[in-house]
Amino acid sequence: MAIVYNPEKRTISLHTAKTTYQMKIGNLNYVKHLYYGATIPDEDLIYLVRRYDRGFSGNPYDSLAERTFSLDAQPQEFTTQQQGDFRINSIEVQNADGSFSFNGRYKSHRIYHGAFTLNGLPTAFAAENDTVDTLELVIEDAVTKVQVTLLYSVFEEADIIMRAARVHNAGNAAIQLKRIMSVNMDYMNGRNLDLLSLPGRYGQERQVERQPLTHHVHKIRSGRGISSHQQNPFIALMDRNTNEDAGACYGFALMYSGSFLAEVELDQYDQARLVMGINDRLFNYTVNPGEDFDAPAVLMTYTHKGLAKMSHNFHHFFRNNLNRSKFVRDVQRPILINTWEAAFFNFDDQKLVEIAKAAKDMGVEMIVMDDGWFGKRDDDNSGLGDWVVNENKIRCGLTELVRQINDLGMKFGIWFEPEMVSEDSDLFRAHPDWVMEIPGRRAVRSRNQLVLDVGRKEVQDYLIESINRILDSANIYYVKWDINRAITDLWSNVLPADRQGEVTHRYVLGLYRIMDGIIKTHPDILFEGCAGGGGRFDPAMLTYFIQYWSSDNTKPLDNLKLHYGSSFLYPICTMGAHVSAASPMVPLETKAAIAMCGTFGYELDATKLKKKEIRACKKMSDLYHKYYDLNFFGDYYRLANPFEQVNLVAWESVSKDKCEALVTVVTVNLTVNGPQEYIHCKGLSPNTRYHLQGGGYDLVISGMALMHAGIPIPREVPEFSAFLYHIQALDE
Ligand code: DGJ
Repeated sequence: MAIVYNPEKRTISLHTAKTTYQMKIGNLNYVKHLYYGATIPDEDLIYLVRRYDRGFSGNPYDSLAERTFSLDAQPQEFTTQQQGDFRINSIEVQNADGSFSFNGRYKSHRIYHGAFTLNGLPTAFAAENDTVDTLELVIEDAVTKVQVTLLYSVFEEADIIMRAARVHNAGNAAIQLKRIMSVNMDYMNGRNLDLLSLPGRYGQERQVERQPLTHHVHKIRSGRGISSHQQNPFIALMDRNTNEDAGACYGFALMYSGSFLAEVELDQYDQARLVMGINDRLFNYTVNPGEDFDAPAVLMTYTHKGLAKMSHNFHHFFRNNLNRSKFVRDVQRPILINTWEAAFFNFDDQKLVEIAKAAKDMGVEMIVMDDGWFGKRDDDNSGLGDWVVNENKIRCGLTELVRQINDLGMKFGIWFEPEMVSEDSDLFRAHPDWVMEIPGRRAVRSRNQLVLDVGRKEVQDYLIESINRILDSANIYYVKWDINRAITDLWSNVLPADRQGEVTHRYVLGLYRIMDGIIKTHPDILFEGCAGGGGRFDPAMLTYFIQYWSSDNTKPLDNLKLHYGSSFLYPICTMGAHVSAASPMVPLETKAAIAMCGTFGYELDATKLKKKEIRACKKMSDLYHKYYDLNFFGDYYRLANPFEQVNLVAWESVSKDKCEALVTVVTVNLTVNGPQEYIHCKGLSPNTRYHLQGGGYDLVISGMALMHAGIPIPREVPEFSAFLYHIQALDE
C-alpha cells in the first residue's frame, strides 16, 4: 500500500517510488501538512512544526489559553475561513445565515486501491501494471455540517499524486460556494523558492518566466473561460539553485479547461502557500443540502533531480495515464496536411483532391479539411453552428469526397468549432436564446461570433447529435476541434438570477459532456484540440485529445521558444507542429526538424511546391517515421534555452533503454568568425560506446565524451541550418 495510516501518531504518509507526502491529524483535529519531498520512512515528522506566540494571528477558541496555536502560522492540508488564518485560502463559503465561515476539522478517512474519479470532470486513470491507491479524508464544519473531502490518488511508480476536493453539504440549508481550491500546499520554508510559469499570448503561447517568491501573492490565472493563451494551468516551485539537472522542484498541473487560478503567497514568516483551482472571479455556486460540488484534479510531482526530471515525470504520466486512445501508442499517427494556411476559406472538393494528390508525393498520409466546409461559410462572418455540408463547395458530397481521398491512399480529417455560433446562421435564427447574452445588453463579438450556452443540456444534445451525424456519414479518420474566442457575457437563460455565478463552471462541465458524447463514442477517430492555436492546451483536454495544435504561429523560429516552454509540462507527442510557408528564409529541412519536435505535419498548398521541395518534404516525412518512437516515447531533454542569447537551440530524445538518441540542433545566430559552439548530450549511459552520425560526423565515441565533452557544431553553414545527430549504442 502506497498510503500508510499510523493510528497511534495519527499520521498519514503517501509514498510514491521516490517521494513521501505526510499529514497529521493534530490535537484540535486540524489536519496539518508536514512534508512533501524525497522519500522518508513512516516516522512522525511533527517535530518540524514549531509554535510561537504570533502576535495578531489569533488562536482558535478551543485552543484555550494556548497562545502559540495560530492557524496563521501552521502548515495545513486545507484552510479554514475566519479562524485567524489571514493567508490565501482554500475555501470561501457563505452559509445560510449569511456568515462567511468554515472551520473544517478531521471527521474520517478511508484508503482504497485505484484512482478517484470526479463527477463530470476528467481525471487520470491507473494504467496497466500501475500501483495506485487513494486516500479520501473528510473534514467537517461542526456548525454548518459542510464537509470537504480531500482526495489524493498516489501513482506510485510515476511519482505523481493527483489531488482534488469535494464539497458536500451535509447540513440542512443551502450554501454559496464562492471559492474552492483543489489543492493547498504549505511550505514551512519558502524563502528560497522560485516560481516558474508559462505565460504567453495569441501566437506566442507557453513562453517561460521564472521569478523569486517575494512577500506578496503571486497570481497565475485565466479569467477568459478557457485555460488560455495568456497562462497555462501549470506552475513549478523550486529551489533558487535548481537547474535542468539538479535541485528540488515541485510541479503542479490543473486538469481544468476553464478560468483557473494559481496563487502562491510568501508569508510574514517566510512560509509559502500555494493554492490552485477554479478561478473564483465571477464564480458563485449554490450547493443544496445533500449535494456535492467537485473541484477539478491537480497533478503534482516532486523531484530533487531538477527540471528535466520534473518534465519526464509529467511526460511519462501524460503518455500513460490521461488518454486511452489507440493513437497514444498502438497506432502510429499519420502525417497530415491541413488546408488552413493553404487555402483558408477558398476551396472546393476539387481543390482538396488536388492538394491531396500533390501531398501524397511528400509522404503525407492524411488531408484535413479545415474551416469553411459547412453551412454558409465563405469567411468568418457566418455559418458557425450549422453543421451540415456546404454543397456549393463540397459538390460531390462528403461521403464521396472522402471516398475519392481514400482512393488516393490517403486518410481524411475534418474541422469543427462546436461551441460557437454566427449570428448569420440557421442555428442562431432558430435559437437566438441559446447564446450567452446578458439581458438588456448586447453580447461581445469576437471574430464575429457569439458563444453558445454550452452549459445547457439542449445545446449539448444538439451539438452531439449534429456533429456525430457528420462523423458517421463518411470515413473520417481525424477531427480538429477548435474554439476561436474567449468566453464573455456569462449568462444562461435557463438559470435563475441567483445562480448566474455558476455559468462559467457549467460551461466547462457542459463541454466535457459534449466531448464525452462525441469523442468517447468514436474511439477510432484521432481527435486533435485547438483554440486559435494553443489557447486551451491543458491536461484535462489531453484526456480527450491526444494532441493539441500548439499555435497559429507556424514561424519555425518562434516555434523553438514555444516548444521549449511547452516541454516543461507536455510531451512532444501532444504538441501539434507543422511545416508551413511562413519564414521563407528558413530552409525546409530546418522547418521540418523543428516540426518533428511535435506531431509532424504540413500546413501549405502542396500544389504550389516545386519538385525539389516535394522531394525534400518526402525525405523529412521519412525521417519522422524513422524517429517516431524515439521522439514520441523517449525522454526529452532541453539542451539550450532559446530565451537566452544563444547561438543555437538544441534538444534531445533518448530512448528509455539509453541505446538510441536523437539530438536536434538549429543554428539561430552564428556570427562570422565566431567561437566554436558545443552541445552536450544528456541522459546517455556513460560507459556505453555510441555510433554518432549526422552533421558531418560518423564516429564511435563514449557516452561520457558525448555528455561531458560534447559535440562541436559545424560553423560555416547557411543561416538557420538544422542538424540531426543520431546516436546509437554499439552492440559490443
Ligand atoms: C484557428 C486555428 O488555430 C487554425 O488552425 C484554423 O483552424 C482556424 N482557426 C480556422 O478558423
